[in-house]
Amino acid sequence: MRTADIGVTGLATMGRNLARNFARHGHTVAVHNRTESRTKQLVEEHGHEGAFVPSSSIEEFVSSLRRPRKAIIMVKAGPATDAVIEELAACMEPGDMIIDGGNAHFLDTRRREAALRERGLHFVGTGISGGEEGALHGPSIMPGGAAEAYETLGPLLEDIAAKVDGTPCCVHVGPDGAGHFVKMVHNGIEYADMQLIAESYDLLRQALGLSPGELAEVFREWNRGELESYLIEITAEVLGHTDPATGRPFVDVVVDQAEQKGTGRWTVQSALELGVPVTGIAEAVFARSLSGHPGQRAAARSLAGPAAAAAAGAELVEDVRRALYASKIVAYAQGFDQITAAGEEYGWNVDRGAMATIWRGGCIIRARFLDRIRTAYEADPALPTLLADPTFAAALADAQESWRRVVATAATIGVPTPGFSSALAYYDALRRDRLPAALIQGLRDFFGAHTYQRVDREGVFHTDWSGDRRERPA
Ligand code: 6PG
Repeated sequence: MRTADIGVTGLATMGRNLARNFARHGHTVAVHNRTESRTKQLVEEHGHEGAFVPSSSIEEFVSSLRRPRKAIIMVKAGPATDAVIEELAACMEPGDMIIDGGNAHFLDTRRREAALRERGLHFVGTGISGGEEGALHGPSIMPGGAAEAYETLGPLLEDIAAKVDGTPCCVHVGPDGAGHFVKMVHNGIEYADMQLIAESYDLLRQALGLSPGELAEVFREWNRGELESYLIEITAEVLGHTDPATGRPFVDVVVDQAEQKGTGRWTVQSALELGVPVTGIAEAVFARSLSGHPGQRAAARSLAGPAAAAAAGAELVEDVRRALYASKIVAYAQGFDQITAAGEEYGWNVDRGAMATIWRGGCIIRARFLDRIRTAYEADPALPTLLADPTFAAALADAQESWRRVVATAATIGVPTPGFSSALAYYDALRRDRLPAALIQGLRDFFGAHTYQRVDREGVFHTDWSGDRRERPA
């Protein structure tokens, strides 16, 4: 019975495509789904693609796996995951592994990994990006869990992962929840990327009166240069699409309220805890939230706007392209900072260059640009911020005048560009010799005796604001 190299339980589109991907690579795959008809359907429709071992119960599924058993769970993240883990674990033996391929919260993954470790089982929380197509043709895979588990699991995952220049987009990220953490930040960056793209589209449309079809061409052109990426490519597709029912641009018939399943929000929540300013991701999450308040938007529609009409010329297109690139550098720099901070907090020691490497292909944020990030971290693994890498510093220097014009134009004509603006503010804040945080420290000391440090002497001080205003060591 024990014939399968790996198993997949949960055969909705992602799980099903992942199972097919393993089978197509010559691996024998055990497949199971709570509703058995899905299992049968998979084997009926795709049985010819490789070796599938269908099971109708979890017990049967587990016993069809070769030891050490490797069972991938592809169910909706949440309580269902705990239930499936428990069922699997009950039939497993020490050394076996449960791999969670869903978008679980990394703290849940840490908890589950610790609990299963106690029982002698491996739990590998694994980020998988690339959507349905990626799962079938080669996703980017971000496994966490014990290095020991990766030794036997890794080669299987690397086999089905996307390849860029022959390198698989899969690497052991770090222990326990590291894989799911990195996938979460990947999603946060995905939010930021999409927000910046949406702002570019909106500003060019409002300022220059370009049609969605014309803007599709602009994005298609941008995709031939340094912005080349999957998201820019599909932006051209979506903007160029005409709604068959009305003949109108597709983008004009879609309700303008962006939804979210939660990974972007988690990224920001974690960043707040870690004290990392991921302003690009936060603006993207909040922009989606704002879009989802139609009542407030209707109430605000009559508020005054600027008198200035669009006063921009065609050169705005190139300015926006540069602003997009510069803001994207900032968003990625912030995301990598969050990975660094979490690595320190949770003891993960994540190799940031390796993360850029596995994001080059297969995943939603795949882009030519990630090769530059990989190179930057290879040149200096301790780089304090990506902005300081000579190549990115030069790109920012090259883009910054355009970036400022874009933010100024948007403000002048009343087009919201929170992504561009906050990225520029972040860039300018990091560059500053002195920040007004000194005044904030003064105010805190004034109203709450919160103390401050001085630039010219060691120590902690308090000024007696309500008395003689003399400074004393705190
Ligand atoms: C991926 C995607 C995937 C999914 C997001 C969408 O990497 O393949 O990120 O995980 O598309 O969950 O997230 P929202 O619904 O929150 O936009």
